[in-house]
Amino acid sequence: MEDLKAYSDRVLLTEDEIRAMVKRLGAEITRDYEGKKLFLICVLKGGFVFMADLVRAIDLPLEVDFIAVSSYGSSTKTSGVVRLLKDIDKPLNDKHVLIVEDIMDSGLTLNYIKAMFENRSPLSVKICTAFDKPERRKVDITPDYVGAVIPDEFVVGYGLDYDGILRNLPELCVLKRSIYEK
Ligand code: IMP
Ligand code: MG
Repeated sequence: MEDLKAYSDRVLLTEDEIRAMVKRLGAEITRDYEGKKLFLICVLKGGFVFMADLVRAIDLPLEVDFIAVSSYGSSTKTSGVVRLLKDIDKPLNDKHVLIVEDIMDSGLTLNYIKAMFENRSPLSVKICTAFDKPERRKVDITPDYVGAVIPDEFVVGYGLDYDGILRNLPELCVLKRSIYEK
């Protein structure tokens, strides 16, 4: 299968819809963090496409960094195990941290990451997720900024992968069942 579209069952959010979503989030963040030292921390790898768009939609001076955690591996089900593979390299004490994530599912990953940053005593820690599947939550955690609430389906594109591929799909698509049920 060479064509990326062959992996998609249907488009959930088009490029235009995602662009509008990022613009709205950028405006909200710009308003909320005016006059504050904003530090955006992206969760790799899934967050990298959203991060790149989001920083350009925020009209404030800001710093960026990246962390990496172990996630799904090659299946479409969460293991619940979070492992820190790459950390940031600066202290957080005088900063307002905004964690930038691709999608919130069980919430286990962000629950772990948020607690880890809170332990380093920044001025605040908030979460901005591009997509949210609230029905799937296993821990009590609510993102502060949400691009779009989506149904409980496995999605790919706009940074999100299936087995390491499909992150470069410009839309958010539902993965064809036949791909992971074979
Ligand atoms: P959580 O810990 O269950 O909230 O899972 C969060 C991580 O699982 C995300 O950062 C994604 O990497 C991955 N994930 C969750 N749902 C999907 C999906 O529908 N498609 C692709 N990756 C997903
Ligand atoms: Mg992720």
